[in-house]
Amino acid sequence: MTAAVLPAPRIPRHIAIVMDGNGRWAKLRKRPRAFGHRAGVDAVRKVIEAALRSGVQVLTLFAFSSENWARPPSEVRHLMELFLRALRKETRELGDNGVRLRFIGERSAFSSDLQLAMAASESVSIASLKLTLNIAVNYGGRWDIVAATRAVAAEAKAGLIEIDAIDQATLERHLSLAPLPEPDLFIRTGGEARISNFLLWHLAYTELYFTPVLWPDFDATCFQGALNEYARRERRFGQTSEQIAEVVDA
Ligand code: FPP
Repeated sequence: MTAAVLPAPRIPRHIAIVMDGNGRWAKLRKRPRAFGHRAGVDAVRKVIEAALRSGVQVLTLFAFSSENWARPPSEVRHLMELFLRALRKETRELGDNGVRLRFIGERSAFSSDLQLAMAASESVSIASLKLTLNIAVNYGGRWDIVAATRAVAAEAKAGLIEIDAIDQATLERHLSLAPLPEPDLFIRTGGEARISNFLLWHLAYTELYFTPVLWPDFDATCFQGALNEYARRERRFGQTSEQIAEVVDA
């Protein structure tokens, strides 16, 4: 079944992906980890194309976690060079194809070159409306919640909001994905079944999909497999199957 024949509500509006397995993919080929990360960029390209074809509106990729700084310095350096090169090379074409780029995460930790390239990519692609591509860099779900809490506390201190008026929507407005919808589908490649401090707040009701496929091998067919699995899931949001059926029949 192709994505085009799935009824629209069965296509996730927002997909979040933990792209794991580059290192093992390279090791299997007796190549350095950097080789795997370069192949990982090719997989990113394929998945963006597949998302555009399927009508997915938001794609959020975990490119570098706040914990990834602990990797060997040479690998961190290589990843930074790879990001910079990819941004400089791909942004315009992505924008022309309807992809708007956004970065989420604490970017002050990056070199000024990289920070400038991120800001430039965001502004060059700002009018592209088909797919919003969020790249999570130096991102952590706990960091996001703490930063939002600080912002809400500052509003309360300034008398802009009553403490009793603070609710989930208040906090959500300050999280880095705002105002985008939360992910409908979370995909993690590479065989591990964990969230690894990705979008902790936003994944509360997201459908989770884990695959052993290593990220560089994750292609349009694998992407379609995840969409098909999502289409089979029943999303109940705490309700019963019968209640969901009533809504669908109405
Ligand atoms: C995890 O695999 C992958 C990363 C930490 C880096 C992900 C980055 C890319 C795929 C490049 C993306 C580029 C852009 C421009 C978005 P791993 O190294 O942890 O693999 P392993 O678990 O097999 O060791």
